[in-house]
Amino acid sequence: MSAELNLRIHDLCFDYGHVCMLKNINLEVFSGDFLGILGPNGSGKSTLVKNILGILHAKSGEIEIFGKNLKSYSIKELSKIIGFVPQKSALFVPLLVVDVLLMGRYSQLKHSYSSYDEKDLQEVEALAKKLNIQNFLQRNILSLSGGEFQRVLLARALLKKPKILLLDEPTSALDLNYALELLSECENLLKEQNISVVAILHDLNLASLFCNKIIFLKDGELRYQGNVQELFKKEILKEIYDLNCEVLYHDNRPYILTLKEK
Ligand SMILES: Nc1ncnc2c1ncn2[C@@H]1O[C@H](COP(=O)(O)OP(=O)(O)OP(=O)(O)O)[C@@H](O)[C@H]1O
Ligand SMILES: [Mg+2]
Repeated sequence: MSAELNLRIHDLCFDYGHVCMLKNINLEVFSGDFLGILGPNGSGKSTLVKNILGILHAKSGEIEIFGKNLKSYSIKELSKIIGFVPQKSALFVPLLVVDVLLMGRYSQLKHSYSSYDEKDLQEVEALAKKLNIQNFLQRNILSLSGGEFQRVLLARALLKKPKILLLDEPTSALDLNYALELLSECENLLKEQNISVVAILHDLNLASLFCNKIIFLKDGELRYQGNVQELFKKEILKEIYDLNCEVLYHDNRPYILTLKEK
């Protein structure tokens, strides 16, 4: 399968009021890419993702999705293309899990006023089984643990059958086993459907396992882009995270061993 340019960011600058947050970001993401957005707390990762989603609007520069300017998409068109799993969810309504998942089918409905049908429900049940959340379908979403909730949010995003999957710290509440499972599920989808996955990750070793490309953001600047073999270097990690570490290799992948001393 050939690689298609899914997302292009050109000279993007974004300000929060008078504070310049993103500075001249340039980035291309192709189908088949699993891009990791890495960088310390407050470096602008979620801000960048919110610009891609059209929730925040850049001061200058351009974002193109499949060759078309982001501004020319309607919300419904965009939500068919991009599946999003947020870092924090503003979901405080006591809905049933099955209803939250059905929301993921909304953008696929023929008309906004059409109702869900048996096929939608079957898709929800099949995916719930795959992500091991089938026992929660009739539970109140607010009663789930942090990790269970995160898996429901991923399922909701996948039900859209997105062409670009955007994940903001999707594994932050997951134990290692589920973190591996969740990212493997995204990787399978990427291979089966030739989509692209863009994930903000704090766990560098998970990034090493899954990402074919990474970027490092610091103070709103895109400092480095490349693959983990090129960028997981002691000096770079010191510069980005002020971290002392050793970089070890296993199966040609770098793993970060953090050290206590500064
Ligand atoms: N609405 C806002 N108004 C002003 N500043 C904001 C606003 N939202 C975020 N910021 C600030 O912008 C900076 C970047 O925030 P952002 O959420 O993009 O960071 P991040 O890289 O995702 O960090 P984390 O790893 O902690 O999630 C932070 O210093 C944050 O406090
Ligand atoms: Mg964030």
